[in-house]
Amino acid sequence: MSKITLSVIKADIGGYVGHTDVHPDLLEIAKKMLKEKGDMLIDFHVTRVGDDIQLIMTHREGVDSEKIHKLAWDTFLACTERARELKLYGAGQDLLKDSFSGNIKGMGPGVAEMEFEERKSEPVVIFIADKTEPGAWNLPLYKMFADPFNTAGLIIDPSMHQGFKFEVYDMYEGKKIVFNTPEELYDMLVFIGATGRYCIRKVYTKNNEIAAVSSTQRMNLMAGKYIGKDDPVLIVRCQNGLPAVGEVLEAFANPHLVFGWMRGSHTGPMIPVSLEDAVPTRFDGPPRVCALGFQLKEGKLIGPQDLFKDIAFDSARKKALEIADYMRTLGPFEPHRLPLQELEYTTLPHLMEKLKDRWEKD
Ligand code: 13P
Ligand code: 13P
Ligand code: MG
Ligand code: MG
Repeated sequence: MSKITLSVIKADIGGYVGHTDVHPDLLEIAKKMLKEKGDMLIDFHVTRVGDDIQLIMTHREGVDSEKIHKLAWDTFLACTERARELKLYGAGQDLLKDSFSGNIKGMGPGVAEMEFEERKSEPVVIFIADKTEPGAWNLPLYKMFADPFNTAGLIIDPSMHQGFKFEVYDMYEGKKIVFNTPEELYDMLVFIGATGRYCIRKVYTKNNEIAAVSSTQRMNLMAGKYIGKDDPVLIVRCQNGLPAVGEVLEAFANPHLVFGWMRGSHTGPMIPVSLEDAVPTRFDGPPRVCALGFQLKEGKLIGPQDLFKDIAFDSARKKALEIADYMRTLGPFEPHRLPLQELEYTTLPHLMEKLKDRWEKD
């Protein structure tokens, strides 16, 4: 049997209202497009978190398939047309190029794809987030695949005991490195703790079986000016030599601080929420993460399960809201407002230019 590819491609096509949600018409158009034009798909599911649309697709075309990327691009274009008609906020926000050029990467939308042989049972969790950026996955991925206080399987399951391999990507330099854990944990943490620059792009077993893939675009670096954060997605395969579904979700039980929130320029807690509660309104946030669980059946997407709906995440939500209250009291001061180098791609260069003659040597 040939391998299955699971592709998650996302974009912000326009917010309803402001940056809070996706208009239902856009979701309908996306579903219609994938149904009518997606002959090469085995299955698909269209979803959203905040103002971002995700196209979850299974097929046998492999990763970086021009056909699949073009389908996603055309779908987003069709959605943009409607977004413009409705004058939705920031219509076409994430489509940075005028025409498709073979691969959707580097054109604005976020992409996470993996190709694998479907196992006897293939549970996957797809995380989708709004009001944050790809580095937001670093801490949870570290917990899932390298922290025995989170993932009991690292101790208990003989097939996980040897650890995992992490591919870390430098978003400024466009370079990557692979770390072996647990052997190189301390080396790796030096980099992945700097979430604005380095992000965990892939996790493999020591036998080179793919376990997790994240989207790692940084649109503001691509566009040279602020045009919204790169609200990221993450695919994680679970069970049977990989972290259990509950271990994967456990990584979000203590809300961590991420970059994003208002104007993509603030630090705030990432709240795990149900799809229904994924409408960030307070100060355009705080950042949200949803988890969709699927069982694959010859590429068919059986699901989704709305995994953060569980009341067991209520205390994480409560804690996150308390952290949010506290962070807001800091107003325009760091660390609520992002450090300068993170603002470098927003208003800072303009202000520096405007004030350059008023700075005197002292
Ligand atoms: P506006 O200046 O378009 O209101 O931008 C603020 C904002 O929402 C940033 O995306
Ligand atoms: P998005 O990246 O979700 O569009 O949010 C942008 C923003 O500026 C929110 O205040
Ligand atoms: Mg938006
Ligand atoms: Mg968004």
